[in-house]
Amino acid sequence: MMPENSGKLPPGDLPALNNMSELILLLDKEAIAQKVSTTAKLISRDYQDSDLVIIGVLHGAFIFMADLIRQLSIDAFAIDFVRLRSYGDRSESSGQIRLLLDIESDLDGKDVLIVEDILDTGLTMTYLIDHLQSRRPRSIKICVMIDKLERRQTSVKPDYVCHTVEQGFLVGYGLDYSGHYRNLPDIYHLKL
Ligand code: IMP
Ligand code: MG
Repeated sequence: MMPENSGKLPPGDLPALNNMSELILLLDKEAIAQKVSTTAKLISRDYQDSDLVIIGVLHGAFIFMADLIRQLSIDAFAIDFVRLRSYGDRSESSGQIRLLLDIESDLDGKDVLIVEDILDTGLTMTYLIDHLQSRRPRSIKICVMIDKLERRQTSVKPDYVCHTVEQGFLVGYGLDYSGHYRNLPDIYHLKL
């Protein structure tokens, strides 16, 4: 499939999407729903009697998180959000993480579940865990839609993973390439 935005130049210093750019289907929406549902069952089982705060990492995780929490069979839990930036306008991590939006919740004694779209180098997640630890939660676990292994630079390990890939740049289902493709219901490999 050719990208719908073929030929339209993205902002910043991104390689341009062009006529050679290709989207190769990785997970269609049925496969995604199946994986999200399986993960939600595990989370529901593990957090039945806990004081849970689910923290989504904006922007990428908002679609995944919305689907995930609707599949949870847990009586009550809080949600909150952080916004972190590591990428600027490039498709590789800059290694520089900035906190653009912090949580409002009190985490003291709470069980925290971080929901993230994709774990890549792990630098963002390591930064976030450090940041949240200082709020004295009882526990912190990580749930990711995609665990991407090849470029990991930290020892961070996700506790719940919907799907694992070795490498590649993925788009769709919340994952974007400088604002492109976030709205696609399926997940694709973007070949530039
Ligand atoms: P990390 O700090 O390298 O683990 O990067 C984490 C963040 O980079 C994710 O939350 C995504 O926002 C972004 N990212 C990493 N890989 C991809 C990808 O394949 N597609 C879209 N965004 C990605
Ligand atoms: Mg992200």
